[in-house]
Amino acid sequence: MKRRGFIGKMAGGAAAGAAGISAAQQEPAVVGPLVKTPPVVMAPRHDGVEVVWAVSRLAKGRVEWKGEDGGSGTAAADAFGMVPQGEEILRVRIGGLKAGGRYQFRAITESADGKEREESAWRKFHTLDPKGEATEFVVWNDTHENAETITKLHAASPGGDFLIWNGDTCNDWHREDRLVPTLLHPAGQDFTDGRPLLLVWGNHDVRGKWAYKLPDMIATPAGRPFYAFRSGPVAVICLHTGEDKPDDHPSFGGRVAFGPLREEQGAWLREVTARPEFRDAPYRVAFCHIPLRWKKERVIAPGEYGNGNYDSYSRSSREVWHDALVAWKAQVIVSGHMHEAAWLPGTAEFPYGQLVGGGPRADSATWIEGKADATSLRFVMKGLDGKVIERIEFKPLAV
Ligand SMILES: [Fe+2]
Ligand SMILES: [Fe+2]
Repeated sequence: MKRRGFIGKMAGGAAAGAAGISAAQQEPAVVGPLVKTPPVVMAPRHDGVEVVWAVSRLAKGRVEWKGEDGGSGTAAADAFGMVPQGEEILRVRIGGLKAGGRYQFRAITESADGKEREESAWRKFHTLDPKGEATEFVVWNDTHENAETITKLHAASPGGDFLIWNGDTCNDWHREDRLVPTLLHPAGQDFTDGRPLLLVWGNHDVRGKWAYKLPDMIATPAGRPFYAFRSGPVAVICLHTGEDKPDDHPSFGGRVAFGPLREEQGAWLREVTARPEFRDAPYRVAFCHIPLRWKKERVIAPGEYGNGNYDSYSRSSREVWHDALVAWKAQVIVSGHMHEAAWLPGTAEFPYGQLVGGGPRADSATWIEGKADATSLRFVMKGLDGKVIERIEFKPLAV
């Protein structure tokens, strides 16, 4: 029977060849729904957002939007003059909106052959307001594909101006087919409904042979893994601390180059913190996955990495970024990575405090709510049981 099936396939291929069509050119079978995930709202800016979703076959996408106080439009062009299209991911960048504006959008997907069309429901979103009087946001970290934890984080977390997913979304990208469900539909949750996503890269997010594909499906404000923005009185800088071992560690298979990226971010930090909206911000916060400080700082010799030895704090990042962060008067660095909640107040040597969220398991997971207004910037870290683990407050910096 097996042999007959094999002969049958060959015969089909031969017949197609005879007609001048190779087997590879034949139309693939249509299997499953065209749209695989909700439209994920990412990379909020003062003038727009980017919407990303997954499809099961070659398709075109566009986003219709309407303002709650009038105005409407369609975003249907990429940066190169093409209609957004892809066979796995559709990305539509919306621009030209008002700062702090309230909007709705729906994503429209059409199969390449024009035979199928899907419209999402209308969904609310808003742009960042750099001049707003107040802001609210949410921070998750180290979810590591733990569906129970993600489901509970999603249920517990309120909406906000943005959601920082502070790294280690996955374990390792061994399997290419884990990228879409992990990043765009984690635990089956519509997790950016009411809180647009800003991903901060963790060390596990860059592991495995398929990790290089992550930027295909994650939008950031300027297309890089480091970025800065104002939301009301808070200036936010997001940084990529890279791996927790040197780039040449054998476990990375020669796939990573974070040394140059740390240097580039160091130069960029000095430039961005000199811009008036960051230089003069009442509150100054940085997010990076690996902490820049830790409770017991051990220096690991280059040959000692592996066998359980990894960076608890990103010494190599701190050496490049510390002076710029201090000069900027960064008040707090918010991180994850250690799977252990911690708060290290500022010191004379390290004027920035270090807040660290918990781990992927239900008993160690945390989420952080941030709120700022003219009076103070407040962080409240809670466990999944609702218990408050840390409560930290900063007064506005004198400008
Ligand atoms: Fe982690
Ligand atoms: Fe980590």
